[in-house]
Amino acid sequence: MDLKKLFEFIDKNEKNYISLLNEVVAIKSVSAMAANRDETIKMVHWMAEKLKAVKATVELAELGKQTIDVVSIPLPPVLLGELGKDAKKKTLLVYGHLDVQPAAKSDGWNTEPFVLTEKDGKLYGRGATDDKGPVLCWLHAINAFQTLGIEIPVNLKFCFEAMEESGSIGLDELIKKKKDTFFKNVDFVCISDNYWLGTKKPCITYGLRGLSYFSVEIECAAKDLHSGIYGGTVYEAMTDLVALLSSLLDSKGKILIPGILEGVLPKTKEEIESYKNITFDVNEYTKEIGAKKLYQQSKEDVLAARWRYPSLSIHGIEGAFCGQGAKTVIPRKVVGKFSVRTVPQQVPAKVQECVIKYLKEQFASRNSPNTMKVNVLCSGKPWIANFKDKNFMAGRNAMKNGRLLYLMANLNIYGAEPDLTREGGSIPVTLTFQEELRKSVLLLPIGASDDGAHSQNEKINRSNYINGVKVLASYFIEISK
Ligand code: BES
Ligand code: MN
Ligand code: MN
Repeated sequence: MDLKKLFEFIDKNEKNYISLLNEVVAIKSVSAMAANRDETIKMVHWMAEKLKAVKATVELAELGKQTIDVVSIPLPPVLLGELGKDAKKKTLLVYGHLDVQPAAKSDGWNTEPFVLTEKDGKLYGRGATDDKGPVLCWLHAINAFQTLGIEIPVNLKFCFEAMEESGSIGLDELIKKKKDTFFKNVDFVCISDNYWLGTKKPCITYGLRGLSYFSVEIECAAKDLHSGIYGGTVYEAMTDLVALLSSLLDSKGKILIPGILEGVLPKTKEEIESYKNITFDVNEYTKEIGAKKLYQQSKEDVLAARWRYPSLSIHGIEGAFCGQGAKTVIPRKVVGKFSVRTVPQQVPAKVQECVIKYLKEQFASRNSPNTMKVNVLCSGKPWIANFKDKNFMAGRNAMKNGRLLYLMANLNIYGAEPDLTREGGSIPVTLTFQEELRKSVLLLPIGASDDGAHSQNEKINRSNYINGVKVLASYFIEISK
């Protein structure tokens, strides 16, 4: 009965929810860019005010400073909030992030990235799905209970940070420090910061890959050089770097770094069996990417590659010429960026050791007089959970309750149960919560697989956003049972 009232209320408030999303998308909280730090901090304050408005008590936990390119800037505070302290109720900790990836119209967006724009039932804007939309869904769910005078059946705690896209600097330490104070008495943890496996069917998620992100810097000269004057005499930094980056992978995407796969567990029969029941269309996935062919062909192999095997990606080169036209320059210094997605049982420190050793060997074998520096820019641990526990059952039921509504929204949903998925992406804090608080962490995604997090034209479907509020409201009830 309560659920029905809540769902009706939520449907009636669509406009209001969208206008709030509008407000937050306009705040350019790009954590990676020093110039945007004020906006990033402003975003945390915005959310703090909203939590206060639903009568939560809030604390802004300061994390000190961060140094980017010799400039020291303040880290955004972590927003810790608390709503309800009823000893008879369970306590749910909600985590989300308020920062976003960089975005510029010139990257190929069809609309202004920081102006929420609706088209064909899709809400476009940076952060719409990662993670501002889902974070707002928690707020809307609370608001729905309160406005209708329905008691929220759980105590809530919130941990909202604004450095997730930049490796969650300082967050682990804060959680360890406040383990027996703020984070005490937490019974369950829920994070909505990932995506459905496809575009039509909800899922709940029990695994994430970790990440070790590297920079490799090569310097060859005191200044940039004209290639006509100096070309042919200088050991060029770019030549060294391209060779190093090329030595990381073979043409089939196999990582060539010795020892790096240590700890990766062989696939089990149960795992392969469980993949078989999952709704996932390799063709749709390939088409959505716009790729001609994938390394793998079968559904099971594609899922395994994304979820339970490591991968290495090359992201970019700082300092390399990348403008229009034909600039005949020899860059004096270039910094290659690449990362390794790690899986449970791999030890990040070991992975990093293997990478650094390998790069040093490769570089030495070139007999280059240039200097090379390797750094780990950020890292996050992989995570896997027991998906049979109470938290996952509650999430599953919430999705099922929500499913009726997805049906009403004319989405073609098949199968009575949400799929159980893992993800290839990383949310560094997930394992920290699990290990430090020793409580179950559930990932409850709201957005769809084609939302384009980190990409051009990031969006959240209007229906996912609105029905997401219903799923979270329903989850409050399910987890309290
Ligand atoms: N929401 C993502 C995590 C994610 C990505 C979940 C893909 C599921 C699929 C998160 O905001 C993110 O982008 N994380 C970074 C973490 C990194 C900077 C440590 C990532 O995965 O690259
Ligand atoms: Mn995210
Ligand atoms: Mn992200």
